[in-house]
Amino acid sequence: MEKTRYHVLLAENDPAAADVAIRALTKLSSNYEIEVVTRGDECIRLATTGQYDLILLEYNLPVVHGSKILESLGRAGITAPVIVLTDEGSEETAVDIFRNGAADCIVRSPNLVKILPIVVRENIEKFESFRRKEESERQIRELRNLNENIVANISSYLLVLDQDGRILQANRTFCASVGVRDDALAGSSIVEWMAPTLIQESGLLATLRKVGTTGAAANLYGLVDSTDPEHPRVYNVRVIPLDVSEEGRPLNEGSEIDRRILLILQDVTEKEKLGKEILETREYLTSLVESSIDAIITTDTQGHVTFCSRSVQEMLGYQPGEIVGRAVGHHYARGVDEAHFIMERLRQHGKLKNHETEFLAKDGRRVPVILSASLLRDHRGRVIGTLGISKDISERKAADQEIRYLKEFNESILQNIGSAIIVADNEGRIVYSNPAASAVLGYSRAEFETLDIWRLFLPNEDSPHLWRTISRGETFQGAETIASKKGGATIPVGLSTSVLSDARGARQGAIGIFQDLTEIRALQQQVLQSEKMASIGQLAAGVAHEINNPMGFIHSNLFRMAEYMDELKAGFAHYEELRRVVAQGGSDTLRTAMDALEEARQRIDFDYVLEDFAKAIGESQEGAERVNHIVQNLREFSHMDTGELVMADINKCIESTSNIIAHMLRYKVRLVKEYGELPMIRCFPRQLNQVFMNLLVNAYQAIDGTGEIRIQTHAEDDRIVIQILDTGRGIAPEHLHKIFDPFFTTKEVGVGTGLGLATSYNIVLKHKGSISVESRANQGTTFTVVLPCS
Ligand SMILES: Nc1ncnc2c1ncn2[C@@H]1O[C@H](COP(=O)(O)OP(=O)(O)OP(=O)(O)O)[C@@H](O)[C@H]1O
Ligand SMILES: [Mg+2]
Repeated sequence: MEKTRYHVLLAENDPAAADVAIRALTKLSSNYEIEVVTRGDECIRLATTGQYDLILLEYNLPVVHGSKILESLGRAGITAPVIVLTDEGSEETAVDIFRNGAADCIVRSPNLVKILPIVVRENIEKFESFRRKEESERQIRELRNLNENIVANISSYLLVLDQDGRILQANRTFCASVGVRDDALAGSSIVEWMAPTLIQESGLLATLRKVGTTGAAANLYGLVDSTDPEHPRVYNVRVIPLDVSEEGRPLNEGSEIDRRILLILQDVTEKEKLGKEILETREYLTSLVESSIDAIITTDTQGHVTFCSRSVQEMLGYQPGEIVGRAVGHHYARGVDEAHFIMERLRQHGKLKNHETEFLAKDGRRVPVILSASLLRDHRGRVIGTLGISKDISERKAADQEIRYLKEFNESILQNIGSAIIVADNEGRIVYSNPAASAVLGYSRAEFETLDIWRLFLPNEDSPHLWRTISRGETFQGAETIASKKGGATIPVGLSTSVLSDARGARQGAIGIFQDLTEIRALQQQVLQSEKMASIGQLAAGVAHEINNPMGFIHSNLFRMAEYMDELKAGFAHYEELRRVVAQGGSDTLRTAMDALEEARQRIDFDYVLEDFAKAIGESQEGAERVNHIVQNLREFSHMDTGELVMADINKCIESTSNIIAHMLRYKVRLVKEYGELPMIRCFPRQLNQVFMNLLVNAYQAIDGTGEIRIQTHAEDDRIVIQILDTGRGIAPEHLHKIFDPFFTTKEVGVGTGLGLATSYNIVLKHKGSISVESRANQGTTFTVVLPCS
């Protein structure tokens, strides 16, 4: 490129002359930048920096003379033109000046102002063109160098041949491959150095000749050198005619001269292999994409669909043609906002993973999918669009929903079921409990989770049932065992167990379902009791009836016998009178008979017999009385008389009953009555009175010395509760379950028949109520009667 400003160094010690020179140069052009030095040494120093395009030199400079300066610049290789200004016009000086290397010489004259710019300009132009030439030569040199280097080092084989295949030149790669030096190759035929298969199959020689004659380049692809059959090599060959004009026409067209041909053999074995691999990979990828059940959609940067896999069609019901080219935003059920959101995420993070969204199918269905997307880039890394892979999760969603539903369903069953449920893991730790389990055992859910099955269930035989289920897979149905409640109390439970397994059938622990049997046991007891009562009641009724009849005539006979006894006694009073009369004046016969009678009387202790006979009759009458009483009790027990069902105030019943026995209690027992407000109930008052009487008498009889009997009543929901508490000796634990049995008594013969509580039990049961007892030895007993209001 041509310079527009030139640097000129002006070496001039006369300021006036310098001024003239400056004005002469700057008058016509502003292209000069002039620097002035006044001494020869300064001139050398600056000029040898090489930054000047031209040097104007006053020949007679102080310190260093002009001739010396020229010499120095020549030595320093300064090529910028030096124009010498001199006052002397002698030829000798001029010769000297030019010999020393000046480019020009101007003798000062009044014309200097006109001449100087012309000379300067000429010299600068000359220098410019010299410099340009030098530059292009340098470039050529460099290019040649580069070319040679490329040719030498290129991995392809380069050969310059004549059109008969004789080698004129070969590059280093080729020489190295055949193991021969360049000059040894020269003049030999290519046939000698290349594999016959390669030469023959390719028709290389024919191609060379054709290129030689036509001057048109030719390409041969995929030539195979199978010298080593294990590793055949593949070449692409380019045959280029040299001596071709720039427009591509052969030089010396039509002439018979031998044309030189450049042969470039490129080993493409690896490339071929790669290409094949790429092809295979591409096919693989394509089939992968097409066979993928996930929908694959690519878009351009504007969000227009550029590709969609076949599965899109199955998922959304569109033909690929209906989607490609359209904005992908149309297919999101949530609309273009969703597309923007996804694009924004991609822009920020480059990818989007497992994003749940919905597509709109052609028929308007919303198809839930999980979308993963990433930016698509070209080989230079520029973003060219997006790639989205979507998995249809409709089924999964439905399954999820089903699972959720089932979980909720299960949970609500577990939460609301009356059976207690606990789940233990393989170590026996409690991992789940339901509210019923909390209700039965008293632990909160959180507390359960700190416990294990050994804490909850007492070992049965060798280990708790649940542990046998966990460790051996044994299961139980309604097994009766004992559970410990919070606080240590134990209760009977009915336990069923099953193995808890995961989806693959591996044992994960055990599930235990149990029920508190306390109440059931009590009920069972009651049922047992009432059955017993019923059968005994029948028996009693029969016995009472059977005894009652004979007792009737025994009783009346005894009464009559007592009467006869009295009459007999009265009759005997006449015997003594008879004996006295006979002794005073009776005949011997009469006296003998009288003595025999007297002897018999003595012998059988007649008086005693009479006396004892009367006593025996009295005792029998008492016994009969007792039997009557028992029969009476038996009749009551078996409800032989039922009385009438009427509305009654229970407090009043109790009050009248307690009044009957009040005198009996008087000195021994303090009677406390705490009546609550009670509704009237429909009942058999006479029978209930009998119950209260029996309970009060029992309480009284249980108190040795002095004590207290407390009567409490209160209403509760739709029932009334009557409690009779005493401070008596209590009931031994082993008797507790027997006291309601008929004829069970601990009292002396004649004191109790053991029918009181049995009768009371029957009466209360008949009222659909319940009677229960609690007792502590030496502290007292509480009987509780509960009667329903309706
Ligand atoms: N309040 C009580 N304190 C201590 N023991 C009692 C009490 N009530 C009942 N019992 C025991 O229960 C037994 C049975 O009582 P139940 O009333 O059925 O018969 P009894 O009182 O022995 O005879 P009966 O009532 O026929 O005269 C009693 O013998 C006694 O051992
Ligand atoms: Mg009694």
